[in-house]
Amino acid sequence: MRQATVYIDSEALQYNLNRVKQLAPKAKIVSMVKANAYGHGVKNCLAALKNTDAFGVACLEEAIEIRELGYQQPITLIEGIFSSDEMKTVLEQNIEIVVHHQQQLDWLYAHQVAYQNKNLKVWVKLNSGMNRLGFKLSEIINVIQTLKTKGFTCVLVMHFANADTDNHDLNEQQKLQFLQVKEACSPILASCCNSAAIFQWPELHFDFVRPGIMLYGASPFAHKSAHELDLKPVMSFTAEIIALNHLQKGDAVGYGSSFVVEKDTHLAIVSIGYGDGYPRAYFKQNYVVINHQKVAVIGRVSMDMIAIDITGLNVEIGTKVELWGKHRLVDEVADANGTIGYELLCRLSNRPIRKVV
Ligand SMILES: Cc1ncc(COP(=O)(O)O)c(C=O)c1O
Repeated sequence: MRQATVYIDSEALQYNLNRVKQLAPKAKIVSMVKANAYGHGVKNCLAALKNTDAFGVACLEEAIEIRELGYQQPITLIEGIFSSDEMKTVLEQNIEIVVHHQQQLDWLYAHQVAYQNKNLKVWVKLNSGMNRLGFKLSEIINVIQTLKTKGFTCVLVMHFANADTDNHDLNEQQKLQFLQVKEACSPILASCCNSAAIFQWPELHFDFVRPGIMLYGASPFAHKSAHELDLKPVMSFTAEIIALNHLQKGDAVGYGSSFVVEKDTHLAIVSIGYGDGYPRAYFKQNYVVINHQKVAVIGRVSMDMIAIDITGLNVEIGTKVELWGKHRLVDEVADANGTIGYELLCRLSNRPIRKVV
């Protein structure tokens, strides 16, 4: 059987959740499990996250999956509902919604009594400069005051565009706008921190923090590794060597014959490829890890296979290869491929077997 395997380390996930608790002891934790728990598989992660206060997801289907797995914590739909008919399920499943435009408010008002009877909070989104979702500073205070007058419990919510970048001008603007609205609408619950912001600004943790990437043990920062942040990688992505070849100087490897060996080379073929979610883009030299040793990926990544240079190494058919995990961080693989760890995790395909350990 093909042995491409994604191991999910439950203890690492619990450890990272506890890191959030250490960093933000007073805030409630909304664990972001959208995009199938950042590619880890929601069903593989929820038990380890059972002590979270709430979950955050991108759509109703993701929320329903959590309820069907038997978890009753509050769930927030971070983009709100996409059409009025979704309100019915929101109410049946006790799901909290973000509102970021007038139409969503109208859909909510049409179900005001039922929503309030369930004690669900309304998360009102401020657009303070990221310019994706939210009411502008000039509108939001009225929106919140109207909601409050109608008897809703509101959470002021915002997302930073550059929380991973020190001294970005927009950070100050976003913080000031958030604080201004918070003050004007006081008392109000508040939430503005994703992983990077949790590390950067303890003074902004407020009532709810919304960690995503840090739960999975990857770094939200380009220049600080998961190890430096004391996070433990949750996913180990592994495959096995399925063929060994001896190439002579001048021989080429793989599609396009783009990589030509400059000396006699022992190479191994590993059963992993872009069909599994292993990246094909090539930005810098990429590596895998075998027995704690870095081994270079050579030639193009195929759909189901890669070639690695095993000259001088003692390996055989069946030797296990770590593509990313504890020894080769997903962020390092991402960096070698001109992307971010988030993307590699989220775009894993269903083909690798998932195992919870
Ligand atoms: C609204 C919101 N909050 C929190 C997060 C979690 O962010 P991160 O994974 O950087 O912690 C996201 C992720 O995109 C988000 O969209």
